[in-house]
Amino acid sequence: MSKAATQLARTKSPVPPGWRKEVESVLITDAQLARRVRSLAREIERDYRGREMVVVSLLNGTVLFLADLIRHLSLPLRLDFIGVSSYGAGTESGELVFTKELRLDVRGRDVLLVDDILDTGKTLSRVIPKLRALKPQRLKVCVLLDKPSRRVEEVAADYVGFKIPDVFVVGYGLDFAERYRNLPFVGVLHPHVYKQVNQSVAKPVRRR
Ligand code: PRP
Repeated sequence: MSKAATQLARTKSPVPPGWRKEVESVLITDAQLARRVRSLAREIERDYRGREMVVVSLLNGTVLFLADLIRHLSLPLRLDFIGVSSYGAGTESGELVFTKELRLDVRGRDVLLVDDILDTGKTLSRVIPKLRALKPQRLKVCVLLDKPSRRVEEVAADYVGFKIPDVFVVGYGLDFAERYRNLPFVGVLHPHVYKQVNQSVAKPVRRR
C-alpha cells in the first residue's frame, strides 16, 4: 500500500454548470489529481529505477489516469492492455468478461498493473493470478482510487492515489453506463441518475 495514499477532505470546488444536473459534488479536483498522479509517478520511478518495465493497463476506465501517469514516468517502458468488463452481453451482474488479451510477453519482466478503481476487488482478484501465471519477475499494482469499504475479495494495491468513501464516483475515466469518462475531475453522481438508468435498462448497470 502506498504510504502516501491521500485521504480526502471534501473539496469546496463547485461542479461546472454543464454537469450540475447529473453530478452532485466534486470529490477530487483536476489540480488534486494532477498533483497526486505526479507524486505516484515519482514513487514508482524510485522503485523501478534502472529497469525496463511493462505497464499493463485495464481497459477502459484507466485511459485518462494512465495517460497522465506514464507521461511522468521517466523510465523505459512498454505498454499493453487487458480488456476486462464486469458485464458482457447476456451475462449476469458481476460476471467478468475478458474482451482483450495481453499481447506482450511479460515472462521475467517487471510489470506494473494499472487500474482506475479498486472496489469489490473482483476484477483484480481475477487479473492478478492471470498475470502471475505468465511468470513476470515482479508484479506491482497501481490504482488511482481505492474504496476499501466495498471489498469482497482480499486484494490490495501497492500504489494508491486516493482512498475514497462509498460514494458513486464518475469522471477522469470512470463511467456510469459508459458516460462521464471525460469529466476532468472525479465527481459524485446524483442518485437520481443511476436510479433512473437502472430502471430503464434490462441489463443492470454497474454500481461504482
Ligand atoms: C471497473 C474498473 C475496475 C473495476 C473495479 O471496470 O475499471 O477495473 O470496475 O471494480 P471491482 O474492484 O469491483 O472489480 P468496469 O468493469 O466497470 O469497466 P470499465 O473499466 O470499462 O469502466
